Order: sequence, then C-alpha cells, then structure tokens
Amino acid sequence: AQQWRGVIREYAERLPSLEGAPVVTLLEGGTPLIPCEHLSELTGASVYVKYEGLNPTASFKDRGMTAAISAAKRAGARAVICASTGNTSASAAAYAVKAGMTCAVLVPDGKIAMGKLSQAIAHGATLLQVEGNFDDCLTVARKLAESYPVELVNSVNPARIEGQKTAAFEVVDALGDAPDIHVLPVGNAGNITAYWRGYCEYASPTPGVGGEVLAPLATRRPAMWGFQAAGAAPIVLGHPVDEPETVATAIRIGNPASWRQAEAARDESGGLIDSVTDEEILEAHRLLSSTEGVFVEPGSAASIAGLVKMHRAGRVPSGATVVCTVTGHGLKDPQWALRTADGGDVEPVRVPVDAYSVAAALGLDG
Ligand code: F0G
Repeated sequence: AQQWRGVIREYAERLPSLEGAPVVTLLEGGTPLIPCEHLSELTGASVYVKYEGLNPTASFKDRGMTAAISAAKRAGARAVICASTGNTSASAAAYAVKAGMTCAVLVPDGKIAMGKLSQAIAHGATLLQVEGNFDDCLTVARKLAESYPVELVNSVNPARIEGQKTAAFEVVDALGDAPDIHVLPVGNAGNITAYWRGYCEYASPTPGVGGEVLAPLATRRPAMWGFQAAGAAPIVLGHPVDEPETVATAIRIGNPASWRQAEAARDESGGLIDSVTDEEILEAHRLLSSTEGVFVEPGSAASIAGLVKMHRAGRVPSGATVVCTVTGHGLKDPQWALRTADGGDVEPVRVPVDAYSVAAALGLDG
C-alpha cells in the first residue's frame, strides 16, 4: 500500500485554491483518532482524541503550513514571517526549509516552550523575541508583510485555514459521519474556524477543483465547543484581554485574529465557547497522560479540561460521540509532567546496582 501523501494530495479535490501550486509537504495529517476508554466511562459519552501532536513538527499547524508555504511558493515568495506562541514558528521554520525559503519568527518575550524554540532554531529560522505578547507580535508581523516582500503565514493567511480544515475531513472519514460534539482549545481562533469549515463542506454539496460539485460525505455537523484559558479568555469575556496569562502558553492570546469566525462557528453549530482555569488544564493534562497514554502540551489539554467541566455541569449528553482535538505533543513543553499534584517536583528514586534493592523499591518483595 502507498504511504499517506500529506493533506494537500490526500484532499486535492477539496482544496481548489491550491490547484497548480507546487506541493511543499512533510506528509502531515493522517493523525490517529484514538478511542478513550477512561474519558468515555467518566463522561458517559464515546470520547475520541484527534492526536495532532503526531504531525511532523508535533502540532496541528503543519496542516495549515503545508498549504500556506505551497501557496507562497506558487506566488514566488522567498521569505515568510509569522508571529507565534511557538508551534506556528516551529512549523513555519520546517516548511520554509523544505521549500528553500527563509523564515523570520516573532515570539513573545520569554513565554515560549523550550521544545518549540529549539525547533525554530534547528530549522534555521531567524527568531526575534519581541518585548510584548503574542498580539503585539502579530500586529508587527502584519505590518512587515504589508511593507516588505515577506509572506505572512499566520492563520490570517487564507491558505492556513484551507489546510487545517482537512482535520475535520479525517474525523468524518474515520467515524463514518460527523461526531455530535467537537471540542478544541481556542487561541487565535484559526483552528475552530477551520474545523467548522471542514465539517460544513463535508455535509453539503461543495464546489471542488475545476468547479465540479462534490457530493456530501457527512449527514450532519457537530456542535463546536471551544475552550480558552481563563486568564486569556477574550471571546468568553466579550472584550480583548490586554495582559493574557496562563500556563498554557500556546493559547496565551488576548485578541484573537479570527474572533468573529469563532463566534460564527459557535452560533451556527449550536455550540459554546467557555473557559477553563490553569488548575483544570493541568488536571486534564495529568488525566490524559495517566489514564489514556496520550501525552500533550498544556494548551492541548484545554479541550479535555473543557469536556470534563461540561460533564460536571451535566451538559454532555449520555451516549454522544465526542471528538477532542489535542493540538500539540507533550514533548513540546515537558516540564508540566514533572510537577506533582501539590505543586512539588517529581524526583527519580535512586537505587544501587542490585536486583534486590530494585525489587524492594518496586514493591515486588514479600
Ligand atoms: N493548541 C496549540 C498547541 C497551539 O499552539 C495553538 C495556537 C492553539 C491550540 C490554538 O489554536 O490559535 O487556531 O485557536 N498556537 C499559535 C502559535 C497561536 O503561534 O503556535 P488557534
């Protein structure tokens, strides 16, 4: 059998805007939709996680980046720029290298996870820490893209949303239809916008490549549930947050670029956008790693935290099919796993080179 070909080739007929573009790909997408027994038992629903940490640069951004960099290459761009809380920069840097372009990234001062920083540096991006937050970085990146010959590859670039909608296609392809509820973390709000577009296109006749109308592959669309971190919850509060704060640095965003589109996804789908505290995020992070075997970064755990919060509020219908996107891999920002529930640090137990001592330390004696 042929290996997975990346989202542009796998879904070419549903990506008419990329027709004729040279395909710059690291074979992203095709990520597993993992059934979660413990979460299902806890909530009374059939819960799956879409494990986007298994993309080439270990986050969902690769789906959008293959599209944005391919479109930029078609347009003759030689340099790209982005603002990022980390994952976008890692992805942009990798795909720019693959395309033979240069990449500049603007990241917030001191608030990006080590794994993401290493990736951007390893792939040769020019990285600048801006003395401000993500929203400031995006403002500056947009200005530069207007005035200089650099292509902006943040999710305000329409190709990004096109690429990212393929995750919804994969969910329907795997389940045979749309789930009842789709849960995801919300930061700059591009991803909730992209999933909603993907679900809508799969549930209605949709123009594809060459204007050919594609038949629907789903009979329905899910309710979209988005979760922001409580310290960075502008959509929930109804106004921008000047100094967003959360342990989930990926979604530490006070003024999302796709704010209106996120509200449209919520309202058209009969869904909701709510917030979860840092404590709820870290609790969900532990729950997912210790009961399901799935390791994610804190920002990704916001979707699980949201599901648990809604379950506790009695809002998860019994027997519903629920898909939670977990957006980035745990190795991006591994320090959180080394915290104990009471906030201390986990220390490895030291033992001598001796089977009896090891057995005793493991509780295997007697
Ligand atoms: N989860 C992770 C791991 C992310 O990195 C991001 C966004 C989100 C969720 C939120 O997605 O912005 O589409 O609502 N990260 C961006 C970045 C901002 O720069 O890497 P969104």
